[in-house]
Amino acid sequence: MEKTRWYKDRVFYQIWPRSFLDGDGDGVGDLLGVYEKLDYIQSLGCDGIWFSPLYPSPGVDCGYDISDYMDIDAMYGGMEAFRKVLDGAHARGMKVIMDLVVNHTSDEHEWFQKSRRRIEPYTDYYIWRPQGLGGKLPNNWDSMFEGKAWQWDELRREYYLHLFAVKQPDLNMDNPLVRQEVKRIMRFWLDLGVDGFREDVITFISKRDGLPNDYFMPASRGIAHYNHGPRVHQYLEEFKHDALDGHDTFTIGEAPLVAPKKALDYIDERHGQLDTMIQFQCMNADCFLIDYAALPFSARRLKRAFDLWQYKLDGKAWNMLYLENHDHPRVISRYGSEKYRVESGKMLACSYLFQKGTPFVYQGQEIGMTNWRPKKASDYEDVQTRWHYEHMLAKVLPDDVRLKWCHRASRDSARTPMQWSAEKNAGFTTGTPWFHVNDNYREVNVAAQENDPNSLLRFYRDAIMIRKRLRVIRDGDYVDHTPLSGSLYVYSRTLGDEKLLVVCSFVERPVHFRAPQGFELSRGELLLANYGSGLSKNGFITKPYECRVYHFT
Ligand code: NOJ
Repeated sequence: MEKTRWYKDRVFYQIWPRSFLDGDGDGVGDLLGVYEKLDYIQSLGCDGIWFSPLYPSPGVDCGYDISDYMDIDAMYGGMEAFRKVLDGAHARGMKVIMDLVVNHTSDEHEWFQKSRRRIEPYTDYYIWRPQGLGGKLPNNWDSMFEGKAWQWDELRREYYLHLFAVKQPDLNMDNPLVRQEVKRIMRFWLDLGVDGFREDVITFISKRDGLPNDYFMPASRGIAHYNHGPRVHQYLEEFKHDALDGHDTFTIGEAPLVAPKKALDYIDERHGQLDTMIQFQCMNADCFLIDYAALPFSARRLKRAFDLWQYKLDGKAWNMLYLENHDHPRVISRYGSEKYRVESGKMLACSYLFQKGTPFVYQGQEIGMTNWRPKKASDYEDVQTRWHYEHMLAKVLPDDVRLKWCHRASRDSARTPMQWSAEKNAGFTTGTPWFHVNDNYREVNVAAQENDPNSLLRFYRDAIMIRKRLRVIRDGDYVDHTPLSGSLYVYSRTLGDEKLLVVCSFVERPVHFRAPQGFELSRGELLLANYGSGLSKNGFITKPYECRVYHFT
């Protein structure tokens, strides 16, 4: 089937289900809640939904540890509730994509339980290795979440590989039976009517033969031997050919550490196996590779990442645009300003929504939710945060400093319940919420913003509507006019005679902005702004975190 690439016209909304809306009062978000809010999502102008995992799971990694790939967790309402949501979304013209997490399963998955007992055909479903001489681990690799990447299994009397939590054993993708299972899972959801997949750490699925030691990396040791491993393209090609072909899908590969050149091997429209990639470079403007390696925020670094991906994919592949998801702290707290929460939230929206690609909005981003502040370490739920708190930061830092550090870097900072109203528990649940509600919910919530014409929520709606209306935003050429500025990000999009100019200030202090050559601001239409429209000499002096979007025809 010829791909229509329908995703190029859409804006996606990411739902992290346990914190979206609780429809049955048990304190955990669920599909009943999602069903109730389909109109809300549509009202934003979003016409696609990415669901973080909804499958049965022990919940060690909040659903990314799956124990059954072909069902929906009862906690979320089970399969019936999912069908209802899927139909409801489709009836509104919205597409739905699922998280496909096949680098690893939960250790409670039946496959793993049989594999550790050497029950065929599951014996080689995972990556098992005997103990080395003198009790040595099979190699020196690190896991991303919990120390070393190997765990001893008493029953099988071997080590298994886990690149993430101990309870997330890696599948052995070299085993053709495992690949059959993956294709079966994909077909199952496609046959049910879903429109594509966000493929979790998909660049990790093929490990280098012999699983050699890694002598180069000081942390995340081993990554060079499994990121973009030897057979990753072969396997993705197989999934495409045997499962995706015949369906007009949207597939997104999550790709830690990927640069555009490498990404093109996966997503070049002429021969790629995927449609777009989640790159992490736009998440590294205030840290070195991971959120815990903090650096001061640099607008220049952010723009470098934006430019790199806009320029390098142009005409060859399609970008996935985002500033938030469930794996990173809230963007206003990172790249904007909590003091100028609304202003900087609007500016940040403009900084990415008008680039070339498919934008994603993460639940709560549209109302400017900010990082939640824990009171004590045990407030954290996230396996990665807990580990960082206890091990990585433990040796050198006092408690309160570690807490502050986690507040800045933890994924839990962005996983608090969605703030629907000023009512109890932010209107998220009538029960006891599974996780802490951010204290600022009385001011920051959907209900309040629905009634406020200057709210961030209204601004997101307007911005997305503009994006949908103007072809120049979908197809126009991108140019960054101020790549060297540490405060302004000024980019344009051009399609024939039609032009869009986006001006964003990343700072509180006033900055002189002068329009780039070829843009006569007084002739343009000001489509969107977070302050006024004043001009002098084809420019203006910026207010804190000011943004403006001009359209020229
Ligand atoms: C990436 C997911 O986004 C993250 O939440 C998860 O913990 C890891 N992959 C492991 O599945």
